[in-house]
Amino acid sequence: MNYQEINELYELNIYPRRNITLVRGSGALLWDDLGNEYIDCSAGIGVANVGHANSDVAAAISHQAQTLLTCANVFFNDVRAQLVEKLVQMAPPGLDRVFLCNSGAESIEAAIKFARLAGGGRSRFVCATRGFHGRTMGALSATFKKEYREPFQPVVPGFEFVPFNDFEKLSNAVNENTAAIILEPVQGEGGVRIPGPDYFQNVQNLCKERRVLLIIDEIQTGFCRTGKMFACEHYGLVPDLLCLAKAIAGGVPMGAVLCGGRIDVKPGQHGSTFGGNPLACSAALAAIHFMEVKNLAIRAADLGDYFIERFAIPWPPIVRSVRQIGLMIGIELKERAQPYLVRLLELGILALPAGPTVIRLLPPLVINEAQLDRVVQALREALR
Ligand SMILES: Cc1ncc(COP(=O)(O)O)c(C=O)c1O
Repeated sequence: MNYQEINELYELNIYPRRNITLVRGSGALLWDDLGNEYIDCSAGIGVANVGHANSDVAAAISHQAQTLLTCANVFFNDVRAQLVEKLVQMAPPGLDRVFLCNSGAESIEAAIKFARLAGGGRSRFVCATRGFHGRTMGALSATFKKEYREPFQPVVPGFEFVPFNDFEKLSNAVNENTAAIILEPVQGEGGVRIPGPDYFQNVQNLCKERRVLLIIDEIQTGFCRTGKMFACEHYGLVPDLLCLAKAIAGGVPMGAVLCGGRIDVKPGQHGSTFGGNPLACSAALAAIHFMEVKNLAIRAADLGDYFIERFAIPWPPIVRSVRQIGLMIGIELKERAQPYLVRLLELGILALPAGPTVIRLLPPLVINEAQLDRVVQALREALR
Protein backbone atom coordinates (compact mmCIF):
# COMPACT_ATOMS: atom_id res chain seq x y z
CA MET A 1 0.00 0.00 0.00
CA ASN A 2 1.18 3.53 -0.69
CA TYR A 3 0.89 6.35 1.87
CA GLN A 4 -2.40 7.63 0.48
CA GLU A 5 -3.96 4.17 0.75
CA ILE A 6 -2.68 3.75 4.32
CA ASN A 7 -4.01 7.20 5.30
CA GLU A 8 -7.38 6.37 3.77
CA LEU A 9 -7.56 2.96 5.42
CA TYR A 10 -6.74 4.00 8.96
CA GLU A 11 -7.80 7.64 9.31
CA LEU A 12 -11.37 8.80 9.73
CA ASN A 13 -12.56 10.17 6.42
CA ILE A 14 -13.03 13.73 7.72
CA TYR A 15 -11.12 15.86 5.24
CA PRO A 16 -11.76 16.34 1.51
CA ARG A 17 -8.33 15.19 0.38
CA ARG A 18 -6.24 16.19 -2.59
CA ASN A 19 -4.36 13.58 -4.48
CA ILE A 20 -0.76 14.31 -3.39
CA THR A 21 1.45 13.19 -0.49
CA LEU A 22 3.53 16.05 0.86
CA VAL A 23 6.81 15.10 2.47
CA ARG A 24 9.06 18.18 2.59
CA GLY A 25 8.98 21.95 2.64
CA SER A 26 11.27 24.97 2.52
CA GLY A 27 10.09 28.58 2.72
CA ALA A 28 7.09 28.86 0.39
CA LEU A 29 7.83 25.60 -1.43
CA LEU A 30 6.59 22.05 -0.81
CA TRP A 31 7.52 18.73 -2.39
CA ASP A 32 5.56 15.51 -2.73
CA ASP A 33 6.85 11.94 -2.43
CA LEU A 34 7.43 11.81 -6.21
CA GLY A 35 9.69 14.87 -6.09
CA ASN A 36 7.18 17.31 -7.62
CA GLU A 37 7.54 20.92 -6.42
CA TYR A 38 4.62 23.16 -5.43
CA ILE A 39 4.29 26.80 -4.45
CA ASP A 40 2.33 26.74 -1.24
CA CYS A 41 -0.50 29.29 -1.12
CA SER A 42 -2.16 27.48 1.78
CA ALA A 43 0.61 27.55 4.44
CA GLY A 44 -1.03 24.70 6.36
CA ILE A 45 -4.20 26.91 6.33
CA GLY A 46 -2.51 30.07 7.50
CA VAL A 47 0.03 28.45 9.83
CA ALA A 48 3.43 28.58 8.12
CA ASN A 49 3.78 32.39 8.07
CA VAL A 50 7.53 32.16 8.76
CA GLY A 51 7.94 29.54 6.01
CA HIS A 52 8.31 25.78 6.02
CA ALA A 53 11.35 24.28 7.75
CA ASN A 54 12.28 27.67 9.18
CA SER A 55 15.81 27.15 10.52
CA ASP A 56 15.37 29.51 13.52
CA VAL A 57 12.22 27.68 14.64
CA ALA A 58 13.86 24.30 14.00
CA ALA A 59 16.91 25.27 16.09
CA ALA A 60 14.71 26.51 18.96
CA ILE A 61 12.66 23.30 18.92
CA SER A 62 15.77 21.14 18.83
CA HIS A 63 17.41 23.03 21.71
CA GLN A 64 14.24 22.97 23.83
CA ALA A 65 13.61 19.27 23.13
CA GLN A 66 17.02 18.54 24.63
CA THR A 67 16.41 20.85 27.59
CA LEU A 68 12.82 20.49 28.81
CA LEU A 69 9.85 19.36 26.71
CA THR A 70 7.04 19.42 29.19
CA CYS A 71 6.34 21.29 32.39
CA ALA A 72 3.09 21.17 34.32
CA ASN A 73 1.33 24.50 34.61
CA VAL A 74 1.44 24.22 38.42
CA PHE A 75 5.14 25.13 38.13
CA PHE A 76 6.69 28.31 36.82
CA ASN A 77 8.81 28.00 33.67
CA ASP A 78 11.45 30.18 32.01
CA VAL A 79 10.34 29.98 28.34
CA ARG A 80 6.65 30.27 29.22
CA ALA A 81 7.47 33.44 31.18
CA GLN A 82 9.37 34.90 28.22
CA LEU A 83 6.54 34.12 25.80
CA VAL A 84 3.66 35.56 27.85
CA GLU A 85 5.68 38.73 28.46
CA LYS A 86 6.40 39.00 24.73
CA LEU A 87 2.73 38.48 23.77
CA VAL A 88 1.59 41.19 26.16
CA GLN A 89 4.23 43.60 24.82
CA MET A 90 3.10 42.97 21.24
CA ALA A 91 -0.64 43.07 21.80
CA PRO A 92 -2.95 46.07 21.61
CA PRO A 93 -2.64 48.00 24.90
CA GLY A 94 -4.66 46.73 27.84
CA LEU A 95 -4.44 43.06 26.94
CA ASP A 96 -2.14 42.16 29.78
CA ARG A 97 -2.91 38.58 30.80
CA VAL A 98 -2.46 35.41 28.75
CA PHE A 99 -3.93 31.93 28.73
CA LEU A 100 -1.97 29.43 26.62
CA CYS A 101 -3.56 26.42 24.93
CA ASN A 102 -2.99 24.21 21.89
CA SER A 103 -5.28 25.23 19.01
CA GLY A 104 -7.65 27.84 17.66
CA ALA A 105 -10.81 26.11 18.82
CA GLU A 106 -9.37 25.76 22.33
CA SER A 107 -8.61 29.46 22.35
CA ILE A 108 -12.24 30.25 21.42
CA GLU A 109 -13.55 27.77 24.03
CA ALA A 110 -11.51 29.52 26.69
CA ALA A 111 -12.66 32.97 25.57
CA ILE A 112 -16.31 31.87 25.73
CA LYS A 113 -15.84 30.55 29.26
CA PHE A 114 -13.94 33.66 30.38
CA ALA A 115 -16.65 35.91 28.93
CA ARG A 116 -19.34 33.94 30.75
CA LEU A 117 -17.43 34.36 34.01
CA ALA A 118 -16.97 38.10 33.48
CA GLY A 119 -20.57 38.55 32.36
CA GLY A 120 -22.01 37.91 35.81
CA GLY A 121 -24.83 35.66 34.58
CA ARG A 122 -25.02 36.99 31.02
CA SER A 123 -24.88 33.99 28.71
CA ARG A 124 -25.72 35.10 25.15
CA PHE A 125 -23.23 35.63 22.34
CA VAL A 126 -23.72 37.54 19.12
CA CYS A 127 -21.71 36.18 16.18
CA ALA A 128 -21.53 36.79 12.44
CA THR A 129 -23.01 34.95 9.52
CA ARG A 130 -20.21 33.28 7.54
CA GLY A 131 -18.05 33.38 10.71
CA PHE A 132 -15.80 30.42 11.50
CA HIS A 133 -14.35 29.80 14.96
CA GLY A 134 -13.62 26.06 15.16
CA ARG A 135 -15.19 22.66 15.69
CA THR A 136 -15.39 21.96 19.42
CA MET A 137 -18.84 22.43 20.94
CA GLY A 138 -18.47 26.04 22.09
CA ALA A 139 -16.48 27.18 19.07
CA LEU A 140 -18.90 25.27 16.83
CA SER A 141 -21.85 27.06 18.42
CA ALA A 142 -20.25 30.36 17.37
CA THR A 143 -19.61 29.06 13.83
CA PHE A 144 -22.25 29.92 11.26
CA LYS A 145 -22.17 27.19 8.64
CA LYS A 146 -25.22 24.99 9.00
CA GLU A 147 -23.49 21.85 7.69
CA TYR A 148 -20.97 22.08 10.52
CA ARG A 149 -23.51 22.70 13.30
CA GLU A 150 -26.67 20.81 12.32
CA PRO A 151 -25.45 17.21 12.91
CA PHE A 152 -24.51 18.17 16.47
CA GLN A 153 -27.71 19.85 17.65
CA PRO A 154 -28.32 20.78 20.34
CA VAL A 155 -25.14 22.86 20.33
CA VAL A 156 -24.46 25.29 23.19
CA PRO A 157 -27.54 27.53 23.47
CA GLY A 158 -27.48 31.33 23.33
CA PHE A 159 -25.53 31.96 20.12
CA GLU A 160 -27.16 34.29 17.62
CA PHE A 161 -25.97 35.30 14.13
CA VAL A 162 -26.20 38.65 12.40
CA PRO A 163 -24.75 39.64 9.00
CA PHE A 164 -21.05 40.53 9.16
CA ASN A 165 -20.27 44.20 8.52
CA ASP A 166 -23.87 45.32 9.31
CA PHE A 167 -23.59 47.42 12.42
CA GLU A 168 -27.30 48.16 12.79
CA LYS A 169 -28.27 44.47 12.85
CA LEU A 170 -25.48 43.75 15.32
CA SER A 171 -26.55 46.59 17.55
CA ASN A 172 -30.19 45.40 17.50
CA ALA A 173 -29.14 41.89 18.49
CA VAL A 174 -27.34 42.98 21.66
CA ASN A 175 -29.45 42.90 24.81
CA GLU A 176 -29.03 42.85 28.60
CA ASN A 177 -28.23 39.12 28.51
CA THR A 178 -25.40 39.43 25.94
CA ALA A 179 -22.05 38.39 27.40
CA ALA A 180 -19.97 39.06 24.29
CA ILE A 181 -19.78 39.72 20.59
CA ILE A 182 -17.45 37.30 18.73
CA LEU A 183 -16.02 38.41 15.38
CA GLU A 184 -13.10 37.79 13.04
CA PRO A 185 -11.51 41.10 11.94
CA VAL A 186 -11.46 39.72 8.39
CA GLN A 187 -13.53 36.63 7.76
CA GLY A 188 -11.25 33.89 6.45
CA GLU A 189 -13.13 30.67 5.80
CA GLY A 190 -16.24 32.80 5.12
CA GLY A 191 -14.66 34.10 1.91
CA VAL A 192 -12.00 36.69 2.84
CA ARG A 193 -14.53 39.37 3.81
CA ILE A 194 -13.05 42.71 4.79
CA PRO A 195 -15.34 45.01 6.80
CA GLY A 196 -15.95 48.69 6.05
CA PRO A 197 -13.63 51.26 7.67
CA ASP A 198 -16.00 52.29 10.51
CA TYR A 199 -17.50 48.93 11.37
CA PHE A 200 -15.16 47.87 14.14
CA GLN A 201 -14.97 51.31 15.73
CA ASN A 202 -18.77 51.25 15.96
CA VAL A 203 -18.69 47.72 17.37
CA GLN A 204 -16.11 48.72 19.94
CA ASN A 205 -18.12 51.78 21.01
CA LEU A 206 -21.28 49.68 21.28
CA CYS A 207 -19.49 47.15 23.49
CA LYS A 208 -18.29 49.92 25.80
CA GLU A 209 -21.74 51.57 26.02
CA ARG A 210 -23.60 48.32 26.67
CA ARG A 211 -20.85 46.73 28.80
CA VAL A 212 -20.67 43.79 26.42
CA LEU A 213 -17.31 42.07 25.97
CA LEU A 214 -15.64 42.00 22.57
CA ILE A 215 -13.96 38.74 21.54
CA ILE A 216 -11.81 39.11 18.44
CA ASP A 217 -10.74 35.95 16.66
CA GLU A 218 -7.33 36.60 15.08
CA ILE A 219 -6.56 32.93 14.72
CA GLN A 220 -6.18 33.32 10.95
CA THR A 221 -5.43 37.06 10.64
CA GLY A 222 -2.83 37.32 13.41
CA PHE A 223 0.97 37.32 13.14
CA CYS A 224 1.51 39.57 10.11
CA ARG A 225 -0.93 37.90 7.72
CA THR A 226 -2.87 41.10 6.92
CA GLY A 227 0.11 43.46 6.80
CA LYS A 228 0.07 44.26 10.54
CA MET A 229 1.18 42.07 13.43
CA PHE A 230 -2.52 41.87 14.37
CA ALA A 231 -5.44 42.90 12.14
CA CYS A 232 -6.85 44.80 15.16
CA GLU A 233 -4.21 47.45 14.37
CA HIS A 234 -5.99 48.33 11.09
CA TYR A 235 -9.02 49.47 13.06
CA GLY A 236 -7.52 50.76 16.33
CA LEU A 237 -9.27 47.87 18.00
CA VAL A 238 -8.65 46.85 21.62
CA PRO A 239 -10.83 43.81 22.35
CA ASP A 240 -11.45 42.32 25.80
CA LEU A 241 -10.34 38.91 24.56
CA LEU A 242 -8.01 38.30 21.63
CA CYS A 243 -7.87 34.71 20.34
CA LEU A 244 -4.68 33.54 18.63
CA ALA A 245 -3.35 30.25 17.22
CA LYS A 246 -2.23 28.98 13.78
CA ALA A 247 0.99 30.93 12.98
CA ILE A 248 1.87 31.72 16.61
CA ALA A 249 4.50 28.99 16.99
CA GLY A 250 5.77 28.61 13.43
CA GLY A 251 3.83 25.37 12.87
CA VAL A 252 3.97 23.79 16.33
CA PRO A 253 0.41 23.47 17.74
CA MET A 254 -0.38 26.37 20.05
CA GLY A 255 -3.19 28.76 20.88
CA ALA A 256 -3.51 31.74 23.19
CA VAL A 257 -6.12 34.07 24.62
CA LEU A 258 -4.97 37.57 25.49
CA CYS A 259 -7.21 39.10 28.14
CA GLY A 260 -8.11 42.65 29.13
CA GLY A 261 -8.82 44.04 32.60
CA ARG A 262 -12.40 42.81 32.86
CA ILE A 263 -11.36 39.17 32.65
CA ASP A 264 -10.81 37.40 35.94
CA VAL A 265 -10.48 33.62 36.08
CA LYS A 266 -9.93 31.83 39.37
CA PRO A 267 -7.72 28.74 39.92
CA GLY A 268 -9.47 25.62 38.74
CA GLN A 269 -11.97 27.39 36.48
CA HIS A 270 -9.98 26.51 33.36
CA GLY A 271 -6.76 24.72 32.44
CA SER A 272 -4.80 22.61 29.97
CA THR A 273 -2.13 19.91 30.32
CA PHE A 274 -0.20 20.84 27.20
CA GLY A 275 -1.07 24.55 27.10
CA GLY A 276 2.09 26.65 27.37
CA ASN A 277 4.44 23.66 27.15
CA PRO A 278 8.09 24.71 26.81
CA LEU A 279 8.47 23.19 23.32
CA ALA A 280 5.63 25.25 21.84
CA CYS A 281 6.71 28.34 23.80
CA SER A 282 10.26 28.20 22.48
CA ALA A 283 8.99 27.67 18.92
CA ALA A 284 6.67 30.68 19.37
CA LEU A 285 9.46 32.89 20.68
CA ALA A 286 11.62 31.96 17.68
CA ALA A 287 8.76 32.43 15.18
CA ILE A 288 7.78 35.84 16.61
CA HIS A 289 11.42 36.96 16.67
CA PHE A 290 11.72 35.97 13.00
CA MET A 291 8.52 37.90 12.13
CA GLU A 292 9.89 41.02 13.80
CA VAL A 293 13.46 40.83 12.49
CA LYS A 294 12.32 40.11 8.93
CA ASN A 295 9.53 42.72 9.07
CA LEU A 296 7.02 40.14 7.88
CA ALA A 297 4.06 42.48 8.43
CA ILE A 298 5.46 45.07 6.02
CA ARG A 299 6.52 42.31 3.66
CA ALA A 300 2.97 40.90 3.63
CA ALA A 301 1.53 44.36 2.93
CA ASP A 302 3.97 45.04 0.08
CA LEU A 303 3.67 41.59 -1.50
CA GLY A 304 -0.12 41.74 -1.26
CA ASP A 305 -0.04 44.97 -3.27
CA TYR A 306 2.47 43.39 -5.68
CA PHE A 307 0.11 40.46 -6.28
CA ILE A 308 -2.88 42.74 -6.90
CA GLU A 309 -0.96 44.91 -9.39
CA ARG A 310 -0.04 41.84 -11.38
CA PHE A 311 -3.21 39.78 -11.13
CA ALA A 312 -6.16 42.03 -10.55
CA ILE A 313 -5.70 44.85 -13.04
CA PRO A 314 -7.56 43.66 -15.05
CA TRP A 315 -8.68 40.35 -13.61
CA PRO A 316 -9.86 37.49 -15.86
CA PRO A 317 -13.55 37.66 -16.89
CA ILE A 318 -14.50 34.59 -14.81
CA VAL A 319 -13.55 36.53 -11.64
CA ARG A 320 -16.35 38.40 -9.86
CA SER A 321 -14.15 40.25 -7.38
CA VAL A 322 -10.78 40.14 -5.65
CA ARG A 323 -10.50 40.90 -1.92
CA GLN A 324 -7.08 41.37 -0.41
CA ILE A 325 -5.50 42.58 2.78
CA GLY A 326 -1.79 41.83 3.09
CA LEU A 327 -1.22 38.25 1.97
CA MET A 328 -4.79 37.20 2.73
CA ILE A 329 -6.35 37.06 -0.71
CA GLY A 330 -9.81 35.95 -1.85
CA ILE A 331 -10.60 35.55 -5.54
CA GLU A 332 -14.35 35.24 -5.92
CA LEU A 333 -15.38 33.46 -9.12
CA LYS A 334 -18.66 33.56 -11.02
CA GLU A 335 -18.76 29.76 -10.70
CA ARG A 336 -17.61 27.04 -8.29
CA ALA A 337 -13.97 27.24 -7.22
CA GLN A 338 -13.27 23.51 -6.79
CA PRO A 339 -12.35 22.60 -10.41
CA TYR A 340 -10.00 25.57 -10.53
CA LEU A 341 -8.28 24.47 -7.31
CA VAL A 342 -7.66 21.11 -8.97
CA ARG A 343 -6.30 22.83 -12.08
CA LEU A 344 -4.02 25.01 -9.93
CA LEU A 345 -2.69 21.90 -8.21
CA GLU A 346 -1.84 20.42 -11.62
CA LEU A 347 0.01 23.66 -12.35
CA GLY A 348 2.00 23.33 -9.11
CA ILE A 349 0.08 25.78 -6.92
CA LEU A 350 -1.60 24.77 -3.65
CA ALA A 351 -4.56 27.06 -2.92
CA LEU A 352 -7.58 26.87 -0.61
CA PRO A 353 -11.32 27.30 -0.96
CA ALA A 354 -13.25 29.77 1.20
CA GLY A 355 -16.89 28.97 0.58
CA PRO A 356 -18.09 27.51 -2.73
CA THR A 357 -16.92 30.20 -5.14
CA VAL A 358 -13.81 31.72 -3.55
CA ILE A 359 -10.18 30.74 -4.11
CA ARG A 360 -8.23 31.74 -1.00
CA LEU A 361 -4.48 32.37 -1.04
CA LEU A 362 -2.60 32.35 2.27
CA PRO A 363 1.03 31.86 1.23
CA PRO A 364 3.89 31.78 3.73
CA LEU A 365 4.88 35.43 4.22
CA VAL A 366 8.44 34.60 3.13
CA ILE A 367 7.21 33.98 -0.43
CA ASN A 368 9.17 36.09 -2.93
CA GLU A 369 8.17 38.13 -5.97
CA ALA A 370 9.37 35.52 -8.48
CA GLN A 371 7.24 32.87 -6.76
CA LEU A 372 4.24 35.21 -6.72
CA ASP A 373 4.78 35.80 -10.45
CA ARG A 374 4.50 32.03 -10.93
CA VAL A 375 1.29 32.02 -8.90
CA VAL A 376 -0.15 34.82 -11.04
CA GLN A 377 0.84 33.04 -14.22
CA ALA A 378 -0.79 29.79 -13.06
CA LEU A 379 -3.94 31.62 -11.96
CA ARG A 380 -4.22 33.33 -15.35
CA GLU A 381 -3.81 29.98 -17.09
CA ALA A 382 -6.22 28.11 -14.80
CA LEU A 383 -8.88 30.84 -14.97
CA ARG A 384 -8.57 31.39 -18.71
C1 LIG B 1 -10.76 32.34 12.29
C2 LIG B 1 -10.57 30.96 12.82
N1 LIG B 1 -10.95 30.67 14.07
C3 LIG B 1 -10.79 29.45 14.61
C4 LIG B 1 -10.24 28.43 13.88
C5 LIG B 1 -10.07 27.06 14.50
O1 LIG B 1 -8.73 26.79 14.69
P1 LIG B 1 -8.23 25.25 14.92
O2 LIG B 1 -8.43 24.55 13.63
O3 LIG B 1 -6.79 25.40 15.31
O4 LIG B 1 -9.05 24.70 16.03
C6 LIG B 1 -9.83 28.66 12.56
C7 LIG B 1 -9.28 27.57 11.74
O5 LIG B 1 -9.29 27.58 10.53
C8 LIG B 1 -10.00 29.96 12.02
O6 LIG B 1 -9.64 30.25 10.76
